[in-house]
Amino acid sequence: MMEELMDSLDVMKDILDNAYQGMVLIDKEGRIIKWNYENLLGIKEKDVLDKHVEEVIENTRLHIVIKTGEKEICKIQRIQGHDMLASRIPIKKDDEVIGAVGTVLFRDIEEIRTMAKRVEILEKTVGKYKDEISQMYSAKYTFKDIITQNDKMQELKEIARKAAGLNSTILIQGESGTGKEFFAHAIHNASDRVYNPFIQINCAAIPHELLESELFGYEGGAFTGAKKGGKIGKFELGNGGTILLDEISTMTYSMQAKLLRVLEEREFERIGGNIRIKSDVRIISCTNENLHTAVQEGRFRQDLYYRLNVVGIDIPPLRDRLDDIPVLSLYILKELVDKMGFSYIEVSDSAMKCLKLYNWPGNVRELRNVLERAANIATGKYIYPEHLPDSINRKLCISDGKKEIKLLKDKVAEAEINAIMEALKFTNGSRTKAARRLGIHRTALYKKLSGYGINIKEL
Ligand SMILES: Nc1ncnc2c1ncn2[C@@H]1O[C@H](COP(=O)(O)OP(=O)(O)OP(=O)(O)O)[C@@H](O)[C@H]1O
Ligand SMILES: [Mg+2]
Repeated sequence: MMEELMDSLDVMKDILDNAYQGMVLIDKEGRIIKWNYENLLGIKEKDVLDKHVEEVIENTRLHIVIKTGEKEICKIQRIQGHDMLASRIPIKKDDEVIGAVGTVLFRDIEEIRTMAKRVEILEKTVGKYKDEISQMYSAKYTFKDIITQNDKMQELKEIARKAAGLNSTILIQGESGTGKEFFAHAIHNASDRVYNPFIQINCAAIPHELLESELFGYEGGAFTGAKKGGKIGKFELGNGGTILLDEISTMTYSMQAKLLRVLEEREFERIGGNIRIKSDVRIISCTNENLHTAVQEGRFRQDLYYRLNVVGIDIPPLRDRLDDIPVLSLYILKELVDKMGFSYIEVSDSAMKCLKLYNWPGNVRELRNVLERAANIATGKYIYPEHLPDSINRKLCISDGKKEIKLLKDKVAEAEINAIMEALKFTNGSRTKAARRLGIHRTALYKKLSGYGINIKEL
């Protein structure tokens, strides 16, 4: 029994001889059989061997651990006026405690405090960067921001909302300015990936030869001009989140093959690297070019097209949902008032007619631009056809604008009456002088006075 114990303890002795901060080994009676606390406590091994641990170490609990058989990890123990961090581990054989080992991790708790402080500072810094990244890579818009009263659009919003909850890959198609990006943002924000990054990549804006390293990253020295420590790719950065691949139709054929592989394997390698990196990202792609046509013309891989188009959302152009123009206009103008400091303004009936007759090649984006420009030009409460750009055929819609013409007439009348009254006051009621001041003939003034029903005697 003793031999066996010594055999087991021999191994421990070896460990203890090489330990840095110090350890003590006791047998089951609590007697010290190995000691390398010399540095720590200034007591030599030969002076303590065979002594009971309680006689040698202040506040020790090693003898208690032998009784309880329960280890005590990282407990504070005061020795020679210092709070040290001690661990006590029972050594067992067939469930029977045959000894115990005591270690001191830190001579002084202050060391831990300093270290903890450093860790805390590091954690704070990392947290700050994390926040910054998630702010940099977050989606701005939600389904509430997609304004529509069109049935087809409402249906699409519903499909998108449902798909957001699943992990499916989504392809959003539609002409430029129809709100594809808005949909992509809203889907990310409605998904449970919302607290992870939303990373937008415009495939058309990044040179073809750089797109691969942008998506997959590279190891240091992967190619000439590569950054020293390598670079993390968007697939790695976006882990747990969503990647929006905008203008996907512009992706080269060879890049399409690489993307297909990632979608199939959910793994990739950095350029110049050989470690497979797992990536859990949801891909949303957008295109204003019909991708199916691109497939038929051999410019886009059919297999990738099917992979991307698990859920397809085709946003109709504005000209096919004219019923959206009034609500969108209202919303856009309200935004101009609320956010840009414009004074209250609305679209007159005649101008609305013009807007509905136009074919909107730039869709909602163009509508926004047209309204902003008009709001800048208009001086009153309404946007009239004359405030719309030449590209919108204004003649088509002016004829029926009775309401505004009357308003305009009233305005002119009001201004004339004011001017006449002012002139008459100035000339103490002399019509001849007033007419001269106003730069009109006397008879013209008489006509206006009777026309407006102004009785001069009342002045
Ligand atoms: N349903 C909508 N509700 C409110 N605003 C919209 C809506 N659709 C589009 N917009 C407006 O139109 C602008 C263009 O939308 P978005 O950027 O999503 O277009 P897109 O389809 O991505 O166009 P492109 O193909 O040119 O990138 C947005 O900034 C937004 O102001
Ligand atoms: Mg876009």
